[in-house]
Amino acid sequence: MKKFFVTTPIYYVNDKPHIGHAYTTILADVLSRFHRQQGDDVFFLTGLDEHGQKVLQAAEKRGVSPQQHCDELAPRFLQLWDKLEIGYSDFIRTTQLRHVKVVQDVLQKVYDAGDIYQDEYTGWYSVAEERFITATEKESGQFRDVKELKEKNWFFKMSKYQAQLIKTIEDNPGFIQPSHRRNEILGFLKQPLGDLCISRPKSRMSWGIDLPFDKDYVTYVWWDALVNYITAPGYGVDENNFKKWWPAQVHLIGKDILTTHAVYWPTMLFSLGLPLPQTIFAHGWWLIGESKMSKSVGNVVNPLDLVDKYGVDPVRYFLMREMILGQDANFTLDSFIKRYNSDLANDFGNLLNRVGGLITKLFNGEVPKPGKSEATETEIHNIVNALPEKINKCLSEWSVNGAIEEAMNLVRHTNKYIESQAPWKVAKTDMERTATILYTATEALRAATVHLAAVMPAKTNTVLAILGAKGTGPSWGGLKPGTKLPSHEALFPRLEVE
Ligand code: ME8
Ligand code: MG
Repeated sequence: MKKFFVTTPIYYVNDKPHIGHAYTTILADVLSRFHRQQGDDVFFLTGLDEHGQKVLQAAEKRGVSPQQHCDELAPRFLQLWDKLEIGYSDFIRTTQLRHVKVVQDVLQKVYDAGDIYQDEYTGWYSVAEERFITATEKESGQFRDVKELKEKNWFFKMSKYQAQLIKTIEDNPGFIQPSHRRNEILGFLKQPLGDLCISRPKSRMSWGIDLPFDKDYVTYVWWDALVNYITAPGYGVDENNFKKWWPAQVHLIGKDILTTHAVYWPTMLFSLGLPLPQTIFAHGWWLIGESKMSKSVGNVVNPLDLVDKYGVDPVRYFLMREMILGQDANFTLDSFIKRYNSDLANDFGNLLNRVGGLITKLFNGEVPKPGKSEATETEIHNIVNALPEKINKCLSEWSVNGAIEEAMNLVRHTNKYIESQAPWKVAKTDMERTATILYTATEALRAATVHLAAVMPAKTNTVLAILGAKGTGPSWGGLKPGTKLPSHEALFPRLEVE
């Protein structure tokens, strides 16, 4: 059995979760489900980033203590994950004692290794990004809330690991994905890499984890946050479990946090002598019009509203199918409704309605026993049998939309097959042939449904229940002749464009 350890970013608890957070988390869930389906042992980690200035500011704005603020907002994320059918294995919060201990242990180890020193530093600090930025970064104008800070702080010798990092990235093309992000990081590493300021004086910002070697400081929120990926599997606490899971197969992140994951985190792991995650995958942004959906801009789409209105499966389907992994995508209600109608109402839902209706009418609602196959049926058997490998290939290339397309191609092919075979006509002369056609179409629907289960767990469960095929696998023959199909409502009723 293979293992698959997948992570999402841990989200800042400065506001309600939005569709961007939902996207990464659904993506992790879909990958987890695909891997579980293949029999892999899966560890799916998500959680919350509760320290640092942003969270502190959000709490102050609400007039509550930061811990109270986090405790009050955490359930909103859990509620959303519940509604979105997210099957995470662990939900970490950085204020949990288990995490505080590991962060301090890691700081002490890196300090003992001689990789942390104190210095006075003057630099540009982006409050929005919670990090010191370089002069070039400041000039780019991409950073908000930039101010000059002069402070005595603790630094991590990140520069020491620059050459090792470059070599690792060059030797492992799969480490940073997609490849244009890898090139971006390699470009960034052409400049000398500075050291990383890893402390905040409590006199300025005290909402964080104490440095074990200097109680006047808390640790930098990103140092704290990145460590979550090793806290959860049990670093320093449960060595067996840690060895079982680390390194992660993939850290899924948005492109907004590539540098912290592809530069800070690997150098921290180098210092600790730990292996690096296999892949850091940076996906694109959901845009509203031309701008990024973001809490600070205030143009967020609330995923709960969408789910309440259209159901969880269409929302998951749209997000997974519409975004080409690695590129940006536009979120509009119009594109949502179009995608729903074309793929879910016209293709998938319609196939179930057709086979269900025909079997009810022509075979009294019982799945008929197929007779001899002809070339048209053999073609469908072949598509079904080739599907698992095709989908695996897509997933190994991180193409979730491609994997979905493979399954949907089978659905579309089967709809065309029904049209061209016209079983309602054949039934007038040849019931055995009619039985073969309807069995084949229904079985193809079942196989496609099994593959789509990772994306639409609720609706596919309903379809498989209707077909009496819960728990069946992707290979041909899961549908049993004689199964009585219950009457059911339209799976995906067409939506009117608003
Ligand atoms: O950065 N489109 O947390 P965060 C797609 N706490 N994805 C989006 C998005 C959008 N418009 N907006 C946000 C943090 N995301 C840190 C992470 S990890 C050790 C610490 C998703 O609450 C995307 O995954 O700002 C992005 O990376 C993440 O939310 C940022 O969430
Ligand atoms: Mg952010």
